[in-house]
Amino acid sequence: MSKPAVLVCRAVFPDIVDRLREHFDVEDNPSDVVWTPAELIQRLQGKAGVFITGTQPIDTALLDACPQLKAVCSMAVGYNNVDVPACTAHGVVVSNAPDVLTETTADFGFALMMAAARRIAESEHFLRSGAWSKWSVDAFAGTDVHGATLGVLGMGRIGQAVARRGALGFGMKVIYHNRSRLDAAIEAELGARWVDKEALLRESDHLVIVVPYSAASHHLVGAAELALMKPTATLTNIARGGIVDDAALAQALRDKRIAAAGLDVFEGEPSVHPDLLTVPNVVLTPHIASASLPTRRAMAHLAVDNLIAALGFGPHAGHPPTALNPEAL
Ligand code: DGY
Repeated sequence: MSKPAVLVCRAVFPDIVDRLREHFDVEDNPSDVVWTPAELIQRLQGKAGVFITGTQPIDTALLDACPQLKAVCSMAVGYNNVDVPACTAHGVVVSNAPDVLTETTADFGFALMMAAARRIAESEHFLRSGAWSKWSVDAFAGTDVHGATLGVLGMGRIGQAVARRGALGFGMKVIYHNRSRLDAAIEAELGARWVDKEALLRESDHLVIVVPYSAASHHLVGAAELALMKPTATLTNIARGGIVDDAALAQALRDKRIAAAGLDVFEGEPSVHPDLLTVPNVVLTPHIASASLPTRRAMAHLAVDNLIAALGFGPHAGHPPTALNPEAL
């Protein structure tokens, strides 16, 4: 009997592809070409499953054009690139990759926040440029992280892991804003206090954005919100581009409306707003918050577990461990 066919959209670890080959006829992408939506549709013809990352759009047009597709398995936790209701309507199960990246991503969010607060990238560029000629009292004097107020916008798993680092490791006072409040026991463990969005913006010394992207969170932080922040505050975004209005942020950084920012995600990435590239008080990284090798491997393995199970194989046959719409099966 022939094996079902699946597509792997981006270059992944060879042993990951080998796991898929045990069950499927696999078309992979070892040269890591970024396919256009039309190329993706063409390659998906006859495929029962697809392994994606957080960047391939899966929408109604694609689903209509790929009637054999039964499973969309992403190695990302964020799934704003996938129209889940449309997948459900087409009988396509979708999975993401939560949990395995939580701690790694929180580590990185904390690193970006600290780099912004302590002006690490800015001062490194200065040193590399050959401009360092003497030690001076106030050179690159930043803001403290320990003991400061950490504001977390979006208190899901990653937000809680950031809060835990702040509260337990750095003695920070933690405030957060989220649609739903945490259980009292978790609030107590984190020493975290729910506040409304305006209070979060006004009171945070270091604001970390960890909210998922959706139409409702588009430009959740723009000029009006930045105007509420302390001039000494930092803003860190490890969630998704588009949540922060990058043009407004670049202006606020240039005007010193806020002290500094750390950004791992951008509107329209991999393009970056040109104004962000010219302001010194922002640390910019290319969407790598989850990029430790063990974590990226764990994310890819989880996507494979889901794909194998979704197409009826392996120990979880019929029950993909992290399906977002199991009702589609
Ligand atoms: C995620 O998992 O959502 C990361 O942002 C990588 O896409």
